[in-house]
Amino acid sequence: MRAITIDKEYGNLSEMLQNLRITDRPLRELKDNEILVKMEGAPCNPSDIAFLRGMYQIKKDFPAVPGFEGSGIIIGCGKSLDQSALTGKRISCFIQDNDDGTWAEYFIAKADNCLLLRDDFPKNEAPVFFINPFTAYGLFQTALDKGGRTIVLNAAAGQVGGFIRQFAKEAGIKVINIVRRPQHVEKLKQEGETLVLNMRDKNFRQDALKMFNEYQPETGFDAVAGEHTSFLLEIMPRYAEIVVYGGLSGNPLSVDVLKLIFESKRISGFNLGDWIRQTGRQKLEEISDKLQQMFIDGILRTRIQKTITFDEIQQGLYQYLTKMSDGKVIIRAE
Ligand SMILES: NC(=O)c1ccc[n+]([C@@H]2O[C@H](COP(=O)([O-])OP(=O)(O)OC[C@H]3O[C@@H](n4cnc5c(N)ncnc54)[C@H](OP(=O)(O)O)[C@@H]3O)[C@@H](O)[C@H]2O)c1
Repeated sequence: MRAITIDKEYGNLSEMLQNLRITDRPLRELKDNEILVKMEGAPCNPSDIAFLRGMYQIKKDFPAVPGFEGSGIIIGCGKSLDQSALTGKRISCFIQDNDDGTWAEYFIAKADNCLLLRDDFPKNEAPVFFINPFTAYGLFQTALDKGGRTIVLNAAAGQVGGFIRQFAKEAGIKVINIVRRPQHVEKLKQEGETLVLNMRDKNFRQDALKMFNEYQPETGFDAVAGEHTSFLLEIMPRYAEIVVYGGLSGNPLSVDVLKLIFESKRISGFNLGDWIRQTGRQKLEEISDKLQQMFIDGILRTRIQKTITFDEIQQGLYQYLTKMSDGKVIIRAE
C-alpha cells in the first residue's frame, strides 16, 4: 500500500516537510480485535506536526507513517469481530500507538479506537470526527462540573476552540476568547463573540486583567502553554483551574507556586486517549451519537481549508502551518 512516511524526527519545520515521502509499505496480518480500513481521508493536526518534529509524547519506530485519526470504509476484521456486520461501514478511527498511522491507503485500527458513523453523517466531517469534537466535549465537562459561568479559551480561533465555544453557547456559559491575530479578533466578533482579546496587542495584559476581574472565569482551557499560562494563572480568580491540553508555544510552564498554595488555583492536563479509556466504551458511543447528531443538524462544523493528495503533502502541510485557523487540511490517498 502507499503511505506517507518519514525516516526520523526533524526539529526544523522545513527539513521535516522536505523529508516526507510517499512509500510502498507491506500490510501486516490483522490481530483478533483489529479492523482493516480503506482510508478516505485523514487530517493534519497540531499533534501530527509535534510528532514529526519529535515534540510529542508518542514515539514510533522509523520509518513511520504519521496520522493520529482519519476515516474510511471497513474492508476486513480480526477473528473476534463480526465481519459480515461491519464490512462496508464507514468509521472514524484513532491511533495513539507505535504503529502505522492514518496517512496511508489502508489503516489497521483497534476496534476500541473506532466509531461507526451514521449513513447521514456528513462525509467531509468523517476524517476529523474523532480527535477535536471529543477533546472539546471532554474538556468542556470540566467547566460544567465546576458549575461556573465564564471560561477562558486561548488558541480560540482553532477547531477545538470553536467546538468548546459552541458547547458553552448551548450551556449559557460566557467565553473569554484569546487569539493572536487582529483578523481573528474581527472574525470572532462577527460570529457574535463579545469578549475577545489579542495576546499580541500591546495592551493585552491590562485588558485581560480588567476582563478577568469583571467576569471572574473559573476555568481556563490552554493550548498555548509557556509564559502565557503563567500570566493566565496569575490573573485568574482564587480556586480557578487551568486545563492545559496543548503546547503550541513549544515552551515549558513556569508558575508562581504561591498562586497554587495560597490562592488554591490549579493546573491540570488533559489527554484524549486517557479520557477515552476513563469514559468507557458504552458512554463513548452515547457521546458519539450525540456529537454525530450535532454535526448532522449543522450545530457543529469543522472548517476544512483544503483536501490534498499524497503528492501534494509538502505544499498542503505548509499551507496548514501558515494558516492554521483557516481550517484543516485533509490528506487523501488518490
Ligand atoms: N490533549 C489532547 O488530547 C488534544 C486533543 C486535540 C487537540 N489538542 C491540542 O489542541 C490544540 C488546538 O488544536 P486544533 O486542532 O484546534 O488546532 P487548529 O484548528 O489547527 O488551530 C490551531 C490554532 O492555534 C493557534 N496557534 C498556533 N500556534 C500558536 C501559538 N504559538 N500561540 C497562540 N496560538 C497559536 C492558531 O492560530 P494562528 O492561525 O494564528 O496560527 C490556530 O488558531 C493543539 O495544541 C492540539 O495539539 C490536544
